[in-house]
Amino acid sequence: MARRIGILGFGSYVPKRVMTNADWSELVDTDDEWILSRTGIRERHFAADDESTLDLAAHAANRAIADAGLTPADIDEIIVASDTPEVYTPDTAAHLQHRIGAGEVTAYDLGGSGCAGFVLALDIARTRVHMASKRVLVVGVELISRLMDWTDRTTCVLFGDAAGAVVVGEGEAVRAEILSASAGTDGSAADILTLETGGTRRPFTLAEARKGGQHDIVMNGREVYRHAVRRMSEAAEKVLELAGRLKADVSLVIPHQANLRILETVREKLGLRPEQVYVNVDRYGNTGSATVPLALAEACEEGRIAQGDLVVLTAFGAGFHWSAAALQF
Ligand SMILES: CC(C)(COP(=O)(O)OP(=O)(O)OC[C@H]1O[C@@H](n2cnc3c(N)ncnc32)[C@H](O)[C@@H]1OP(=O)(O)O)[C@@H](O)C(=O)NCCC(=O)NCCS
Repeated sequence: MARRIGILGFGSYVPKRVMTNADWSELVDTDDEWILSRTGIRERHFAADDESTLDLAAHAANRAIADAGLTPADIDEIIVASDTPEVYTPDTAAHLQHRIGAGEVTAYDLGGSGCAGFVLALDIARTRVHMASKRVLVVGVELISRLMDWTDRTTCVLFGDAAGAVVVGEGEAVRAEILSASAGTDGSAADILTLETGGTRRPFTLAEARKGGQHDIVMNGREVYRHAVRRMSEAAEKVLELAGRLKADVSLVIPHQANLRILETVREKLGLRPEQVYVNVDRYGNTGSATVPLALAEACEEGRIAQGDLVVLTAFGAGFHWSAAALQF
């Protein structure tokens, strides 16, 4: 009999502090009408001053482990997808292993894949379960508010902080089998959405900082938009094909939540009804690699997913990277 590999438990965490569009209009030259009509975002959550990436990740991880009916000692491997790590080195996964009290297991970060990181990590976890029969904790976490430029109205209003997590394993406890997964990269677009400072091309030095050197996110919004629509639609179609399923079989698509207009265009391209696409970008903004696991956990909690449903995850981010997965609940 074929092995059933998939998700055993879901968890998420959103920090308490809410930042509305009206709050932003007091800090930069913007207004609710512009933000809402261009992006569909009404509010986003920002971490408290005493919260870090690790805190967000640990909350989501503990919830996913508990939801799976497990304890941290049952986890064999940890993958953290994040572009806003706790510190530069070592990775957030090392901090998380210690914080949640997991054993001395394999742990590593998947950094730099932008908003596509979590679904790519899910695919890696699936392979690790297949090859080594592990139980893998997969976390998508971002604390973007602390690294963005709070004076750049073209980027700052788009983002929020959050974390989401799943435990991947096999056997009867699987609640959502991963039928297929796929990912791709077009590195020719690497400079279209980037945070350069801190790498060897543009080291973060005190001298640069004093000069006010670049330390924030640079994005060509229109180019990102165009590619996001195409790649997320194609990736969703690809995983359906790999799973031998049709668009007509799909109950729900959970796309990366960057912008409502992107989600609507992806929905039209896939020929789906509005209720077949999960949307929470209005409440959280773009939370990077956390959007998909956060939306997945919420959709489960809200009863949007029933036993037997086919759910497609599709994501797109810096790189450009894209990734998708088909889940059978
Ligand atoms: C960013 C985005 C919302 C901008 O929408 P757009 O319709 O392309 O708008 P533009 O960038 O062309 O800007 C239009 C005008 O609004 C202005 N503007 C930008 N941000 C603004 C804000 N927060 N408030 C008010 N005006 C703003 C611009 O300065 C520009 O003014 P100008 O015409 O006088 O130069 C859109 O391109 C987008 O969502 N892209 C995808 C971004 C994304 O999801 N990134 C993460 C991917 S994982």
